[in-house]
Amino acid sequence: MPLVTEPTIYNADEANVIDQFLKTGYIIFPVEDLNSLAKIRSNLYENAVKALELDSPPPESDFFDNAQKFILPEYLNEIRLGLIDKLNKNPDNAALFYSLAKNHLGWIVGNEMAIQRSYNLGIQLPKDSSSILPLHSDVWSGNSPYEVVLWTSFVDCHKTKSMYLLPLKENQKIISNFQKYSSMTAEEIFSEVEDKVVWLEVPYGHVVIFWHGLLHGNRINEEEKSRWTVNLRFKGLLTPYHAKELGEYFMPLTIRPITRIGYQYKKPKI
Ligand SMILES: [Fe+2]
Repeated sequence: MPLVTEPTIYNADEANVIDQFLKTGYIIFPVEDLNSLAKIRSNLYENAVKALELDSPPPESDFFDNAQKFILPEYLNEIRLGLIDKLNKNPDNAALFYSLAKNHLGWIVGNEMAIQRSYNLGIQLPKDSSSILPLHSDVWSGNSPYEVVLWTSFVDCHKTKSMYLLPLKENQKIISNFQKYSSMTAEEIFSEVEDKVVWLEVPYGHVVIFWHGLLHGNRINEEEKSRWTVNLRFKGLLTPYHAKELGEYFMPLTIRPITRIGYQYKKPKI
């Protein structure tokens, strides 16, 4: 397939990433800084072990996949919310998560960005029906279409242990013919698109960037191990916002000097 982009303008890696994203609306790739991922996971492990008050905790390498052995489903949400609070209060996290995908975010989103203020941690225990996220597009609930999600996993994800999404072309077919689907439940739309969705294969050490306008969600985790993921949104700082605004929901991540100077410029009084 010829590239959509111009390799003479973009370098080869950049052109490939842009090309793939324009075709599918998502990309899975190895993290750009494995140490940052290890640091985020260690912090999460320490906080989880503390919150669960485990006397003899398993080593970090066994903990996440086997969380079903340590977390009772009835306490799952409380534990999850406690860990989200810890993620939100760690001032190093914005830089750590950003470093996982700095180049890719720059190529896909831009070099002046806003980052979501709060981290959303998902824990999908095997067979747990309480953490299902029905098929949806984030653009239906106040996010603008100018945003991507960085989806970071702390375990190997595949099949129903992972999430699914509908790639861009199929997604556009559904959206452009939405009258047909508008009266259906999320479950009914899912059965219509089930054979076209992609279950993301994400080995530990990889992350996903996807456009949250793609229909996506998860089902009951029918695999034997638990899934732990964090999702975090990024957008071009000066691109349109919907209900999720700069300040409350997003904060500036990178602002270039000329934007600061331009923003502060006042027309001289004559
Ligand atoms: Fe979503």
